[in-house]
Amino acid sequence: MRRKLVIGNWKMNGSRAANTALLSGIVAGLNDFGADCAVCVPAPYLAQAQAGLTGTVVAWGAQDVSVHASGAYTGEVSAAMLQDFGATYVLCGHSERRAYHQESSELVAQKAVAALAAGLTPVVCFGETLAQREAGQTEEVICAQLQAVLDVIADEDVSKLVLAYEPVWAIGTGKTATPQIAQDAHLFLRTCVAKKHAVAAAGVQILYGGSMKPENAKELMAQPDIDGGLIGGAALKAVDFLGIIQAV
Ligand code: PGA
Repeated sequence: MRRKLVIGNWKMNGSRAANTALLSGIVAGLNDFGADCAVCVPAPYLAQAQAGLTGTVVAWGAQDVSVHASGAYTGEVSAAMLQDFGATYVLCGHSERRAYHQESSELVAQKAVAALAAGLTPVVCFGETLAQREAGQTEEVICAQLQAVLDVIADEDVSKLVLAYEPVWAIGTGKTATPQIAQDAHLFLRTCVAKKHAVAAAGVQILYGGSMKPENAKELMAQPDIDGGLIGGAALKAVDFLGIIQAV
């Protein structure tokens, strides 16, 4: 049985004061819901996440990582630095990074490699745009994004990945994928992994992301191949984030 996992993606939101309230709200409201839970915070707040979450069941992580280990890469943050602050997860290839920072699938794959090398769990994001969906290219697009990662990581590392299906048209738009659309994409991704890695495919967690909220989380999470959520907007309010975890 795959465990459910709910990750909050704070994106570029927060302040020290707001984060303190949000983190303590999450910790105070969490019972043993039987799901794993984490928040991916802006890099400057990793120390705050570490201070506020150490000793709790909530893990923390970052939203991006450099492909480089160290050196003259102004502005970049290495996987070892994330690890130094106790991070467990790092998002790789979120659609906002692909769109606004021209991250190619090959670069995203290298980021996953860098994360794995430092002992972090890469949460690799895949998703089609509305135009691609309407052109019937969803499977082709997400398969190519996934394949770029499978091509470069070691076979034994496939089971260490977390995958996230995030249709671009559903992110921050209020337009959630229907449970069936999401399930179809998740099953498709799992089948792609299974072609070469049958055992890992059965165990790999595939999260859904895109306007997930307490009201629609239950139906999405009930799908057989949806193993949790990657939550943006609704992760910024403890009551909403907890509502989603509860829906598991
Ligand atoms: P959203 O974002 O929940 O606000 O749609 C999800 C994400 O981008 O990870």
